[in-house]
Amino acid sequence: LTNIRDIFRNKEEYYDQKITIGGWVRSNRNLKNFGFIVLNDGTFFEPIQVVYGNGIENYEEVEKVNVGAALVVTGVLVPTPEAKQPFELQAETIEIEGASTPDYPLQKKRHTMEYLRTISHLRPRTNTFEAVFRVRSLCAYAIHKFFQERGFVYVHTPLITGSDAEGAGEMFQVTTLDLNDVPKTEDGKVDYSKDFFSKPANLTVSGQLNGETYAMAFKNIYTFGPTFRAEDSNTTRHAAEFWMIEPEIAFADLEDDMILAESMLKYVINYVLENAPEEMQFFNKFIDKGLLERLNNVVSNDFARVTYTEAVEILKKHNDKFEYKVEWGCDLQTEHERFLTEQIYKRPVFVTDYPKDIKAFYMKLNDDNKTVAAVDCLVPGIGEIIGGSQREDDYDKLITRMKELGLNEETYKFYLDLRKYGTARHAGFGLGFERCVMYLTGMGNIRDVIPFPRTVNNCEL
Ligand code: 4AD
Ligand code: MG
Repeated sequence: LTNIRDIFRNKEEYYDQKITIGGWVRSNRNLKNFGFIVLNDGTFFEPIQVVYGNGIENYEEVEKVNVGAALVVTGVLVPTPEAKQPFELQAETIEIEGASTPDYPLQKKRHTMEYLRTISHLRPRTNTFEAVFRVRSLCAYAIHKFFQERGFVYVHTPLITGSDAEGAGEMFQVTTLDLNDVPKTEDGKVDYSKDFFSKPANLTVSGQLNGETYAMAFKNIYTFGPTFRAEDSNTTRHAAEFWMIEPEIAFADLEDDMILAESMLKYVINYVLENAPEEMQFFNKFIDKGLLERLNNVVSNDFARVTYTEAVEILKKHNDKFEYKVEWGCDLQTEHERFLTEQIYKRPVFVTDYPKDIKAFYMKLNDDNKTVAAVDCLVPGIGEIIGGSQREDDYDKLITRMKELGLNEETYKFYLDLRKYGTARHAGFGLGFERCVMYLTGMGNIRDVIPFPRTVNNCEL
């Protein structure tokens, strides 16, 4: 079988040649003695037009072929200089590999995103989702390429873990205990000695802590894997299962971390612009009109930078516009993040040095004893896309912080060991992969950039 992608990319080579294509019917229109089938094989954003005449053996069956059917078409590729498409396939044989019934849920009209979410098994056969999921795939490849070209080691961190890296208590528990008959200890607590791991376990909220251990061996590493958070927030940018990229760099500080984050994002944008031009044009036309101009600006300008304390001063002047009023010490909400990046800087912005009380235990304490060497990268349309920090590398300071927060020293012994045996300055960040795909495509809902989204009350398929 020939891929439609190859035909579009090397048209001349295929003209007047006999080829065979396998694909799915997008539309079938017939006149008296001939008909047109628009066939998509998923290898390219454009489908191909097949022309068939009543000379073909099974003309009467083909005439009745429904949208969605799988066909194998053999014919000659003929240039059509006057038509919209540069060529058409003049069919000699059309094999109906798999028919489709008339109730095929994707008819040739515009469906709403909400409707398409109810058929997540079929939506990759639409233009929009074909474009989204090819860009998602390219984006993942670009991220690997970026890190591998720089010698970073890809580390697979565990999905089942006993720790809560972010300390937010938003974990999905993993257990083999019978929830209807939970074993209890004498003092009435759950008896985890009867559980699979003999202790509580949960799905990971971040691979960072394990990643740090490998950075203390390989210097530069990254993770790229699924992450789980039982956040009870029903928003357009939160999923219960999402993918995260977490690089960790040793002998490096917050400045190095920001340089890495900025060059990674620019690299990925460039890669997708170059390798998915048809898809990106489509998004620019139908999903988000300013997309290409915005992304082109991002790659050719420096990201803005502001400290949390400065950002709060700016935001306080606009408190009348916000639902949540800003004051020093508060966590920035999406409305504040978007205001900063969209109204004040009009480009991606790094916000640094947040109050320690709203950030995770592992972040390096600044000399002011009030803030930590944290950084969030905010982008227009989304808000936070990256969260990172320099890590606390001082054993005594780290243990003091852990005690303040009531963390179990035994659970984090391995983490403390890193500060005991050859501790080194190090930093890292987490890029939310779905938010990155939203940013690149202009798609407005996280449910539409992950194949089978898991959100509150939704675990279909
Ligand atoms: O800011 P977060 O919580 O940072 C960490 O997990 C650190 N351990 C990263 C590190 O320093 N290695 O999460 C990082 C990013 C966020 O900026 C956001 O893009 C994404 O992960 N994210 C989510 N994406 C989708 N759904 C959710 N529920 C998300 N929670 C975080
Ligand atoms: Mg964060």
